[in-house]
Amino acid sequence: MLYVWSLFVRASHWLLATAFTVAFLTCDDMWYEDIHVMAGYAAGSILLVRIVWGITAKGYCNFAKFPFRPIAGLRYAWLAVTGRAKRFIGHNPAGSLVIYGMLTTGLLTVASGFLLFYEAYIPLWPDHLGALHNGLAWTWLGLVVTHIGGVVVESMLLGENLIATMVTGFKQRHPHAKGKLGSSS
Ligand code: HEM
Ligand code: HEM
Repeated sequence: MLYVWSLFVRASHWLLATAFTVAFLTCDDMWYEDIHVMAGYAAGSILLVRIVWGITAKGYCNFAKFPFRPIAGLRYAWLAVTGRAKRFIGHNPAGSLVIYGMLTTGLLTVASGFLLFYEAYIPLWPDHLGALHNGLAWTWLGLVVTHIGGVVVESMLLGENLIATMVTGFKQRHPHAKGKLGSSS
């Protein structure tokens, strides 16, 4: 077995998923504004810490191990749907692309929510700011749906349970997976 995701990566992942879900479920009703804002700040804090971790920590969670490469990401997605994708131990190029999208959109969503919340003090065309925050939040949701879809499809194609890996941290060294190992795995 290979230890791929540290406790920090796993805990921050599921906390981020929880904070995102709570923020989305409380966004419509002003009765829950405090909870919405707190969940949003929690998501923002987790994203910031994850980014520092991605620069400083060792292992598969370091950004150097899954660089931002849009062309390679799209190419990998095409290879995956045509059944020719290689197996990666860390994040594959398509997953990496969506992860960078989620990190960026997530931070922008929180920043725009912050500006919206303090609208009285920062007069930044409130109507447009609301639309911007809304648009960013829905874009982030779109990326999350793509992310979850990618995880499920990849798990089925390669014959390994990636969700379990994000829970336990372990990946099998040689699963009954069909793919060959990717070059930067
Ligand atoms: C709901 C909001 C979610 C957000 C914002 C989110 C975000 C992320 C991020 C940022 C990563 C990169 C982890 C890291 O390197 O630190 C990641 C990885 C991962 N997530 Fe999520 N995630 C969400 C939900 C889920 C759900 C519901 C599942 C399971 C169905 C899931 C399964 C995974 C898996 C398996 C990985 C590792 C992918 C790989 O093996 O390359 N995520 N997620
Ligand atoms: C995980 C991060 C966040 C997500 C996914 C999110 C999502 C949303 C969405 C979808 C709306 C639109 C509701 C609607 O127009 O029907 C909204 C509204 C709002 N959000 Fe956020 N938000 C996040 C973080 C924040 C933060 C950090 C703050 C403040 C510091 C904030 C403050 C607000 C405010 C004041 C509104 C306007 C509510 C209204 O009057 O309609 N949000 N949010």
